[in-house]
Amino acid sequence: MQYRYLDLRRGPVQSNLLLRHRINIETRKYLDSIDFIDVETPVLIKSTPEGARDFVVPSRMNPGQFYALPQSPQTFKQLLMVSGIDKYYQIVKCFRDEDLRADRQPEFTQVDCEMSFVEQEDILNTFEGLVRHLFTTVLDREIGDFPRMTYDVAMEKYGIDKPDIRFGMEFQDMAPVTQNQGFNVFDSAEAVLGIVVPGAASFTRKQLDGLTDWVKRPQIGARGLVYCKVNDDGTFKSSVDKFYDQDALAKWAAHTDAKPGDLMLVLCGGLDATRKQLAELRLHMGSEMGLRDPFDFKPLWVVDFPLLEWDEETDRYHAMHHPFTSPKPEHMDLIDSDPGAVRANAYDMVINGVEIGGGSIRIHDKDVQARMFDLLGFSPEEAEAQFGFLMNAFRYGAPPHGGLALGFDRLCSMLGGVNTIRDFIAFPKNNQGRDVMIDAPSPIHGDQYDELFLASTAADKE
Ligand code: AMO
Repeated sequence: MQYRYLDLRRGPVQSNLLLRHRINIETRKYLDSIDFIDVETPVLIKSTPEGARDFVVPSRMNPGQFYALPQSPQTFKQLLMVSGIDKYYQIVKCFRDEDLRADRQPEFTQVDCEMSFVEQEDILNTFEGLVRHLFTTVLDREIGDFPRMTYDVAMEKYGIDKPDIRFGMEFQDMAPVTQNQGFNVFDSAEAVLGIVVPGAASFTRKQLDGLTDWVKRPQIGARGLVYCKVNDDGTFKSSVDKFYDQDALAKWAAHTDAKPGDLMLVLCGGLDATRKQLAELRLHMGSEMGLRDPFDFKPLWVVDFPLLEWDEETDRYHAMHHPFTSPKPEHMDLIDSDPGAVRANAYDMVINGVEIGGGSIRIHDKDVQARMFDLLGFSPEEAEAQFGFLMNAFRYGAPPHGGLALGFDRLCSMLGGVNTIRDFIAFPKNNQGRDVMIDAPSPIHGDQYDELFLASTAADKE
């Protein structure tokens, strides 16, 4: 990383940058051909609520005050709709101070878009079109259909809101065939969920012990793993033979449609935790069984996300997408009685288990927006101070509008068949958010603290 410019001389790295360039050009060509215009929005702004922490920049001319770098151009693109720019796009840098992973950088690029006078269906079709265009022009491949799946179905079948549908192994509710038969671990669990791994009955005892250790690692956090092999002769071998005889295990197989040669894997516990753990195990088994070919592209739209999610720590609701997302009109009356049940006009584009993009139809009514801020625990004064500019703009007539943003780095790495976005960024940061080549971040000069009023601001706070 320190000699990144030398690394960039290597053929594979250069071809990644070339791929990125071509995706950029083809994105612009496609959006231009359907009358989107590229409008630049400012980088020194006020906080935008996308759910991460802001990077802030002290203002020399306004002592003790700070700009925030945009987590996205969300509020600006909505203001552009009020201005009558009906189709906006921008390939734009966004900044989020959050924990880093293979598919997350503190500064990353979005293909950010917004449209006026549209419904969800228009947006999904437009951007499905863009991604299809990119696959044909850049990779010379057809990407196939984008099925739609509701958030609820995704959680029930795959335990995650970004399912990898290159392979099956859908979740099975094992409670009806496992509970109340004397096995206390299952009986006392809120959820007993399983998957069937085709052709994995040949796993050795050592491999199965390895899987058990894998799910018990702190990163996964399961308490244990129950397995049941369906042998070629139709008999069963499980890790819970003491509690379930052959007849009982035959019911498991009938319930899950497991065939001779298959392996059933079962986890139990609280519903949310078990879903999360089994989702990880499913992906792991997909990789183990060679079912996750990076060049087998399986896209889908996940739709009907909940509007709000409950946060135990702060004891209040958070916007699941962001506070400008509109509730489904037919759920408006649930807002007071059962806010957690309200579904939003929000959608994510998912390819091969990666969230490539997301967006929503926005609230364009000042009163609904005020109600939303209220639900999110903002006092009217706080809402006015933070977002008054947007609510005021809505007074002047806001068209119905909506949009989405695609993660450009993720899109590039997806087309490149790799899952680390760093390989597609010329000068990426490491996992501590550092650029080791230029050695940033770094301390600033003593005088700069004074010039920016940083020392005195900190002292005031104390
Ligand atoms: P969202 O927060 O879902 O939506 O971001 C859109 C897409 O950006 C990508 N992404 C990232 N890529 C790399 N590193 C990161 N740290 C990172 N964070 C997000 C993902 C994600 O799907 N304003 C809304 C969009 C809208 O409603 O129109 C927004 O930013 O691929």
